[in-house]
Amino acid sequence: MTHIFEPAARLGLIPPYLFKAIDEKKEEVKARGVDIIDLGVGDPDLPTPRFIVEKMQKAVKDPSTHRYPLYSGMNLFREAVARWYLRRFGVVLDPESEVLTLIGSKEGLAHLPLGINDPEDINLMTTPAYPVYQMGTLFAGAYCHFLPLTRENDFLPELKSISPLVARDAKAFFFNYPNNPTAAVADKKFFSQVVDLCREYNIVAVHDAAYTELAYDGFQPPSFLEVKGAKEVGVEFHSLSKTYNMTGWRLGMAVGNREVLAALGKIKSNIDSGAFNAIQIAGIAALDSDQSCVRDNCRIYQERRDLLVGGLQKLGYDVNPPKASFYVWLPVPKGFTSMSFTTHLLEQTGIVTIPGNGLGTPGEGYVRLALTVPKERIKEALRRLKKIG
Ligand SMILES: Cc1ncc(COP(=O)(O)O)c(C=O)c1O
Repeated sequence: MTHIFEPAARLGLIPPYLFKAIDEKKEEVKARGVDIIDLGVGDPDLPTPRFIVEKMQKAVKDPSTHRYPLYSGMNLFREAVARWYLRRFGVVLDPESEVLTLIGSKEGLAHLPLGINDPEDINLMTTPAYPVYQMGTLFAGAYCHFLPLTRENDFLPELKSISPLVARDAKAFFFNYPNNPTAAVADKKFFSQVVDLCREYNIVAVHDAAYTELAYDGFQPPSFLEVKGAKEVGVEFHSLSKTYNMTGWRLGMAVGNREVLAALGKIKSNIDSGAFNAIQIAGIAALDSDQSCVRDNCRIYQERRDLLVGGLQKLGYDVNPPKASFYVWLPVPKGFTSMSFTTHLLEQTGIVTIPGNGLGTPGEGYVRLALTVPKERIKEALRRLKKIG
């Protein structure tokens, strides 16, 4: 008898992978011997600061870190998160009930719907977006209601356009500022409007704040929890990944509303067993540091931003310098789609970008570039762009 395996029907909910053709093209171009400049991945090329690595080296030698961690995170780490939130945002958190340690914020964002959604609920979310809000929602059997981000609205969702019928059935609202992929930023006025909406319709606000520490020209992006009433209606997800160049370490946190965090914690305690204690000890060193490593990081990204955006503007591209995040959201030239421009760049210049439509329909007409390569590579990318005209 032949063994027939059928994967779970829920895997069929995953939208088509639009980057497949690009991945194949990239391999093809590479095989031709072209020197690829990868501006596609949002993964810092800079190393984790030395003092954090050294803290980890010491912690990993201590056998007490080798045992199962507390699923909600070490008390000492959660206290360090509370100290950091107070210092950075003036937000007071109870480390015990208002901070939950995550194995990277992606893990928490993906698991949250399992703790808060019933099948057929609706979750509101902005689009284009980091895909995990959608996937977590679909895996929990709930539906997505997308709020488009467009240039005309400064890439902020039009909250007034949400029909009361949809809002009444909505359970959660996922939003993310500084935004991936548009690099847009939000102010406290917008966050207050979100609080009002969520309060009126009993919606859980879910703010993804992964990029608040990567900001330029002295700008300091706010936390959602800075606005009045935010903690009553929602939670914020944060991460050490981009702030301290620790994407591979897998350490993040969810903070805010204790009931929502308890629901997420219950799911997590039945799925994972927490983040490695040695990593949390290194994380404490990062959060408690004087943050000069973050300022150094931002200085480097800002130089790259100025070089890339200035160069693109000189070449006639209609693009603005981002105030925060390490992305440049570039409108494609007339006559191209996101996909055809991505392919054109790859074939003609060896430059890899992300087609905007792959992150959500309103992303059509844009490509995303990441500032995660050294200045020399950006200069080379600009030289090649100039050459093709
Ligand atoms: C908007 C956004 N949120 C969350 C994450 C996940 O970060 P991590 O799981 O490393 O904390 C990313 C990663 O690229 C992201 O772009």
